[in-house]
Amino acid sequence: MQWSRNGSNLKEQLLNRLESTDLDNLWIQFLKVQSDLFFDKEFAPIFDQTWWHEARDILEIGSRNGDLLVKMSAAFPDKKYVGIDQQFSSIARAQEHFQSDRLTFIEWDAECFQEAFSGRFDVVIFYLTLQHLKQPKIALEHAYRYLKKGGHGYIVDSHDSSRQSSYPTPLLDKAVKALNEQNRNRGKGNRLISIQIQQELNNQNSPLFPYFSVQMSNLDDQGHDTKDCLQVMIYSKDVGAAYRDYYLLFLKILNKGWNIPIDFEQAYEEAGYFVENKDAWLRSGKHVLLLERKE
Ligand SMILES: C[S@@+](CC[C@H](N)C(=O)[O-])C[C@H]1O[C@@H](n2cnc3c(N)ncnc32)[C@H](O)[C@@H]1O
Repeated sequence: MQWSRNGSNLKEQLLNRLESTDLDNLWIQFLKVQSDLFFDKEFAPIFDQTWWHEARDILEIGSRNGDLLVKMSAAFPDKKYVGIDQQFSSIARAQEHFQSDRLTFIEWDAECFQEAFSGRFDVVIFYLTLQHLKQPKIALEHAYRYLKKGGHGYIVDSHDSSRQSSYPTPLLDKAVKALNEQNRNRGKGNRLISIQIQQELNNQNSPLFPYFSVQMSNLDDQGHDTKDCLQVMIYSKDVGAAYRDYYLLFLKILNKGWNIPIDFEQAYEEAGYFVENKDAWLRSGKHVLLLERKE
């Protein structure tokens, strides 16, 4: 379903629709648009690697409605995919719409060890999930045990300070700052966790050090671009109005889920700049981290 339509009262229609959509459905729409916008770019670094082509069994931890695995299984039908998530309603939806002999969804808590997964997977993916876990390092240790020897972990997580765009986004900057403050105060969610994990994996004294080596990262331990900096950029001329949907859905989720006040008239203008300026670009503020299981 597309949120934006052309027409003179587009803004009013869109903002009314956002207002009347419940949080669950906002998430469903948001994750779908997100995977449409970013899947190709964020997974390009592994899709040209030999080990990826040889991989047969893929696990996604925190698969929600299955949007990512659906795209992946369409692009690489030679593999089997398992998605786990602790949210029953999302798993039920994914099972109803997408389950097949190559694509399985299981309700499971990432922080609990699943014996049946031991040594079974070639690749374990955390796509925008580590930042939501209470004990992300425990989940990563379990991922180590789910991998076969020499298997790979692929993490994509938020890293807000690496977000850049060709135009100013004061409203988005303020909203993300408020989100991070709330998460910090509640001890819930951490949009810096993947960098902290990278720091530990690079530190011989860390308990995580024996598990994985860092094979590639677009950010160094301080969150600055590396030579492997992936140009995870999107351009207005390529994605157009889909970005406006993504942007407004994200802010509405912050508004309804975290009670962060947002001026949606201003948000519409800010997103509109990207849509209407065909030279506009943005880098979404993600940390992309490729790991290899140590012996
Ligand atoms: C932002 S969503 C990720 C969406 C998904 N990877 C995608 O691309 O569509 C984060 C997911 O982590 C899940 N999650 C949070 N804590 C979890 C846990 N302890 N075990 C399993 N899943 C968890 C949430 O239920 C949610 O579906």
